[in-house]
Amino acid sequence: MKTILTGIRVNSELTMGNFLGALLPMTRLANKYSDDHHVNIFVADLHTIIAEQDGTLQDNLVMLIKMYLAAGLKVNENVHIYRQSYVPATSEMTWILNCVATMGELGRMIQYKEKGRGEDSCNVGIFDYPILMATDILLFDGNYIPVGQDQFQHIELTRDIAQRVNHRFGKDIFTIPEKTSVQAKFMGTDDGIRIRDLVNPEKKMSKSAKAANSKIMMTDDPKAAAKKIMSATTDSFGEIKYDMKERPGISNLLQIEALVNDKPLEEVLNEWEGKTNYGDLKKQVADSVEKMLAEFHEKLNKISNGDVFELMEKGEKYANKKANAKLYELQRAFQLR
Ligand code: ADP
Ligand code: TRP
Repeated sequence: MKTILTGIRVNSELTMGNFLGALLPMTRLANKYSDDHHVNIFVADLHTIIAEQDGTLQDNLVMLIKMYLAAGLKVNENVHIYRQSYVPATSEMTWILNCVATMGELGRMIQYKEKGRGEDSCNVGIFDYPILMATDILLFDGNYIPVGQDQFQHIELTRDIAQRVNHRFGKDIFTIPEKTSVQAKFMGTDDGIRIRDLVNPEKKMSKSAKAANSKIMMTDDPKAAAKKIMSATTDSFGEIKYDMKERPGISNLLQIEALVNDKPLEEVLNEWEGKTNYGDLKKQVADSVEKMLAEFHEKLNKISNGDVFELMEKGEKYANKKANAKLYELQRAFQLR
């Protein structure tokens, strides 16, 4: 059975970019494929502590899993939900892979360049982040890794490291995850999902954006979120057309409309391209977002902490068994066992 796997760092709050770029696509893929695929969904709590936490990590972690369930995730025996740090083989394997990856490779990672800014005070975790991520994937023979476009570079690095290890020992210790072009197709997109900042659509929607109108948080009041869509920056071409490079604002709205309603982008483009009334499109997208958020909040309130812990504990039993076996194989290859 092939494995679809993804992790999300614990955030105090999720943006609609996180939701539409990672959480919702993963939920839909899980529901589509979990009859004959393993589906691993985990909370990347070890990745989370690259930034100092304010005491709410445990609460936020439970909330993150609730969000998957509220997004509609159906759990069967092939769906495994777990906390990364509850699988100790993760840290062990990360060390071993640290001895395979190079400074040059990690130094080229865009996320490191952006978050570390090359400063001496940058913690080593930020630098080593992609190796921990590679471990998450390789421990479980991950084939498909649904993530936003900003994480694609880390998937390519994972492939390189896995191939290097297999080559060094002359055997297929690791399963090589699919290329990012294949990953994007698997997620039903041409080149990955990148939801844009509503005020500055050249940038990705990010929770660090200063202006409140730039981003929709999943905790936003649905009506307030709809207003943000109505005030989104578009362009002055005067005709609706999907072109992320030249017309990122309007394209972003078309993309959001497709994702929220689980429609192929083509279908939304057929309906809207060539029309000239931007206000009509905004209204439609605002309604879609408002409806989605209202339903989401209602479902979220119905899920108890107990439900989440039960799922995680069950998932961790499975995950440890599988991860320990893979770690042992690697330890043998490195003459540690
Ligand atoms: P952030 O980038 O908001 O700090 P993370 O790095 O924790 O959040 O990302 C969590 C997931 O959300 C990743 O899979 C990432 O690719 C995805 N993601 C984040 N922002 C966006 C966005 N604007 N559009 C699409 N996906 C996104
Ligand atoms: N690095 C991912 C992010 O920033 C989270 C993550 C950690 C992840 N390990 C992973 C995603 C393994 C996919 C697979 O969002």
